[in-house]
Amino acid sequence: MRIDLFSSRQYDVDTFNEANASFGFDLHFHDTRLDPDTAILARGADAVCPFVNDTVDAAVLQQLQTLGVRLVALRSAGFNHVDLAAAARHALPVVRVPAYSPHAIAEHAAGMILALNRRLPRAVARTREGDFSLQGLLGFDLFGRTVGVVGTGMIGRTFARIMAGFGMRVLAFDPGTPDAGLIALGVQYVPLDTLLAESDIVSLHCPLVPATHHLIDADALARMKRGAMLINTGRGGLVESNALIGALKTGQLGHLGLDVYEEEGGLFFEDHSDLPLQDDVLARLLMFPNVIVTAHQAFFTREAMNEIARTTLGNVAAWRDGATRNAVQLPE
Ligand code: NAI
Repeated sequence: MRIDLFSSRQYDVDTFNEANASFGFDLHFHDTRLDPDTAILARGADAVCPFVNDTVDAAVLQQLQTLGVRLVALRSAGFNHVDLAAAARHALPVVRVPAYSPHAIAEHAAGMILALNRRLPRAVARTREGDFSLQGLLGFDLFGRTVGVVGTGMIGRTFARIMAGFGMRVLAFDPGTPDAGLIALGVQYVPLDTLLAESDIVSLHCPLVPATHHLIDADALARMKRGAMLINTGRGGLVESNALIGALKTGQLGHLGLDVYEEEGGLFFEDHSDLPLQDDVLARLLMFPNVIVTAHQAFFTREAMNEIARTTLGNVAAWRDGATRNAVQLPE
């Protein structure tokens, strides 16, 4: 059985080959993104394995079906990049990796908070230059401050526990069932407006769906505490990127940590350092001293990568054997 992996880098080749030792699939790695021009590469594949910035829209799905592909096996938790209705129309089941390491993402969010608060990138750049002054590096104690967690699924829950470990007051917003374990820990579920108004740090851990698109827009930024910190390790589309610039310029937004960006497709996961950056909004964001951007790396730990490979190949094996595992359901 042949599986074609798109947007694959050396680390994907290494981890998938290692996991495949116990499956024996015929793996074909393509470093190119999946899109209408490259879908043809999947000719002869039984399953395709796209990554988060691949195009899995109606046109691509139709091509894949015509080429004889029978399964879309995502190697991600998020599936906002897939046209699920079109997949259903083309009888292409979509499976994903619902959980690999919530710790990887939650710990990265915590790392961004510490780096922003204590100005670590700036401090390190200074000491490298022989500048040992502290002016401009003043941070604040996390202990006793309030953090707001938007979405308390697997990642948000893990993040909330880490923040509670710092001695922070933890507020949470989730339209689903509140997590009993978090409540026992002292986490308070509140409406989103309360969370925005009272939090010193807001961290986004909900999926990107139509209802959460631009959840943080100019209006939401204005409702946040002045000088608060915003962390987005969810999906770029949760935040209206343009609105961030105004809020940063006035100081309404005090710190910003982005691991995901609305227009990251074609940019993140690749080295563009020799080229002029074409995205003016991102270029402006990168100019602020109180902004840090990482290129969708929150998931990128050894443990997470191994689990992604094992679960993805396990999903394909289950499907081959007639079982359904980790299928993405069409929203009602
Ligand atoms: P999950 O499905 O376990 O939890 C998502 C939670 O968000 C659920 O509790 C759900 O009720 C809640 N939610 C839904 N709509 C909401 C809304 N309007 N406001 C607040 N909460 C809402 O998902 P998990 O594993 O915790 O992942 C969360 C997201 O993190 C994923 O959807 C994905 O986009 C992102 N992610 C980012 C990664 C990265 O490397 N930066 C890696 C993995 C996931």
